Amino acid sequence: MKGIEQNLEKYISDQEISKRVKEISNEISLLYCDKNPILIGILNGSFIFMSDLIRQLNINCEIDFIKISSYLGKKSIGKINMSKGLDFDIKNRSVIIVEDIIDSGKSINYLHDYISNLKPKDIAVISLLAKKGASKLNFKIDFIGFEISSEFVVGYGLDYNQKLRNLKSIYKLKEPHIW
Ligand code: IMP
Ligand code: MG
Repeated sequence: MKGIEQNLEKYISDQEISKRVKEISNEISLLYCDKNPILIGILNGSFIFMSDLIRQLNINCEIDFIKISSYLGKKSIGKINMSKGLDFDIKNRSVIIVEDIIDSGKSINYLHDYISNLKPKDIAVISLLAKKGASKLNFKIDFIGFEISSEFVVGYGLDYNQKLRNLKSIYKLKEPHIW
């Protein structure tokens, strides 16, 4: 990771993230106290957010993961590829989709459709980040951690070409990339 520091600008600190994660978890604990929700993390980006979020919940809950990809470097390649689907039957279950970031909205639209077709009792969507100006969705995002400008960000699970997920805080990635 040496040499990349000058290309990163701290945007949301680990303390701010953990405060916000606790707030969201508290709300979910209240809303879902007798629902035994199944939280569906969207890999890879949401794995750190998901693990912090569920450790703050004080209710019964279960987890599963879906793995999709649509990005190459900083560009969305448009077509969504699902390389891991759900392992559990979510029919009549309360489902909470846990995303890292919503940009164009294509991924969350695709996931919402896929999950709706499996006939859960209800669906909520949580995204740690949402870029301003993301396209209109025909369902609501129930919880957004932080609304951000439309720059590319990394850290806390979010990658640039699979790297930088391990940073504790969230950073803006500046140009040019010299590592
Ligand atoms: P969308 O389909 O355009 O909304 O893009 C959503 C997906 O692209 C997210 O789940 C991320 O995996 C990835 N993505 C979008 N913007 C960023 C970013 O700024 N940093 C890292 N990944 C991003
Ligand atoms: Mg993602």
